[in-house]
Amino acid sequence: MMSQVPIQLSKVPQSDIDNEILRAGMIAELDAINLYEQMKAMAQRPKIKEILTDITKEEKTHLGEFESELIRLDTEQERELGAGAEEVMKMKSIPITSRRMNAWICYLKTCAKETNNTYLECVQDKARKQREYYPKKEYWEQEALKGCPRGI
Ligand SMILES: [Fe+2]
Repeated sequence: MMSQVPIQLSKVPQSDIDNEILRAGMIAELDAINLYEQMKAMAQRPKIKEILTDITKEEKTHLGEFESELIRLDTEQERELGAGAEEVMKMKSIPITSRRMNAWICYLKTCAKETNNTYLECVQDKARKQREYYPKKEYWEQEALKGCPRGI
C-alpha cells in the first residue's frame, strides 16, 4: 500500500509535476481498488462485502477523475490511449460489445475537445442532457466501429 508519493518530485521538471501527481493518484486508486476487492473476497459478513463493493466503486470514480484530467493535460497520453483502444479492437477475439467502449472513448474525446471540459464533466453533462447528446453518441458509435480516428 502507498502512503507516500512513489516518485521524487524534486527530480521532476516543474512542467511535469502535475502529470506525475495525477499518475501517482491513479496508482493509489488502483491499489485501493485491488485491496478492497481482496478484502471483499475475504469478508464474512454480507454488510461488509456491501460496504467494500460501494467503496470500490467510488475508488473507480476517483481513478476516472485522475485519468480524465491527465488525458486532458497530456496529449500524448490521450493519443496513446486511443491507439491502445484501437489495437485491442483489432484483435479478432474481442467481441463487438467491447467496441462500444471505443465509441465511448471517441465520444468523450470529442466532447472534451468541443467543450473544453474534462472527461468527467462530459460524462456528467451527458447524463444531464441525454437527449441532446444521444444523436452524437450514435454517430460516434458508428465511427468507432470503423476505428476511432487518430488525432481526435
Ligand atoms: Fe479514492
